[in-house]
Amino acid sequence: MDDRRWPTYSSRNITLDSYVREGAPAGRGSFHVRDTAGKLYLDAINGIGCLPLGHGDPRWNAAIEAQMGKLVSAPGTIWTDPQQALARDLVKRVPVQDGRVFFGNTGTEVTEAAVKLATRATGRDVIIAFEKAFHGRTLAAIAMTANPKYRDSYVQVLDEAPLGPRFAQMNVARAPFGDLAAVETLFRRYSGRVAMVCVEPIQGEGGVNPGSREFLVGLRRLCNEHGALLGLDEIQCGVGRTGAFSAWTTLVGDDRELDADIVWYAKALGGGFPIAACVARADLAEVMTKGSHGSTFGGNPLACAAAIATLGIMDGDGLFASAGEQLGVLQSIAAEEPISGVLEVRGAGAMIGIEFGDADRALALVDTMQDLGVLVTISGGTAVRCLLAYHAGEAELCEVWTAIRRGLS
Ligand SMILES: Cc1ncc(COP(=O)(O)O)c(C=O)c1O
Repeated sequence: MDDRRWPTYSSRNITLDSYVREGAPAGRGSFHVRDTAGKLYLDAINGIGCLPLGHGDPRWNAAIEAQMGKLVSAPGTIWTDPQQALARDLVKRVPVQDGRVFFGNTGTEVTEAAVKLATRATGRDVIIAFEKAFHGRTLAAIAMTANPKYRDSYVQVLDEAPLGPRFAQMNVARAPFGDLAAVETLFRRYSGRVAMVCVEPIQGEGGVNPGSREFLVGLRRLCNEHGALLGLDEIQCGVGRTGAFSAWTTLVGDDRELDADIVWYAKALGGGFPIAACVARADLAEVMTKGSHGSTFGGNPLACAAAIATLGIMDGDGLFASAGEQLGVLQSIAAEEPISGVLEVRGAGAMIGIEFGDADRALALVDTMQDLGVLVTISGGTAVRCLLAYHAGEAELCEVWTAIRRGLS
């Protein structure tokens, strides 16, 4: 293949052509895709979690087509019906009280919005993030992202051995995920300076690691004690993937006393159309005065119509509930038909990590599974990650498990 893209796109030796409707439930999205040679694949990559309805749900297609014939783009200075309707809907669903919404196009864009809001609202300059975290690829987001390979030559963070010339020094301090004592130590070290603790309730790129309830509630308590904001990155784990709209609710419950201050979503929100949303408490959002932030395409009517359709289909089809069952179904399959080498099947709902504890094995398996017609990604180096469409069930999970068994044999 004469690939004219930047080398940053690592190649998987596959060119996708289209989705297929065969085998898809009537009137719903397809679980399968086809490559240019006509070979079928079960898509458990799912655009890295962007296709909760599967491929080509006809109702989602129709909603986008209808909006295309009306209004596609409008500046943020002008209200549009889809944007207002989506904002009103989102604030009812999120674990933030009296929320106000900023719309972007990508996950990293709303991570940046959260950082800007947190520093402006508190007048503080340090953010606490976690080991194995991933928050995006713009400069503040890579500062909070743990893996140094993403920060290489761009950003230096606090308490890190000097890395050489860097474009930016960012005030991000890092603690091990799950370690409340380490977070407390950072609060003391940067006393009066911590604006926000930023956490993925379930780490996605870091290995599909759910935070324990004790840890997440402990973060809320520490933030309260030290006057910092609690920010949830729900870009990968949110929008129903774990069985509730927010993974926070799945893991912590819906005690409003424990609500976060800022929470942000992307990926599944548009059902495959790019859109992202950052929701913050109204009293905090007030600091983002006219012109203090913006995004030309963010919250455009077409993207908002796609998100409204996605949420409506999820509600109508009971997709949070079906997504929420996936992990348990796969764990039952794994218990009935154990595979030697699989150390753990973890996550929540339709966000599943299958742990091998061996990077070479996991990497090789991803390729073999592709040959066997199942698309998955690696997560945390040693786990295989499945992010199936929410209406996937036992048949698709068995297909994944069979491919793992055959791939390892
Ligand atoms: C938890 C989390 N935060 C942020 C991002 C960045 O999102 P995007 O690639 O849309 O900028 C991702 C993407 O994988 C993610 O999983």
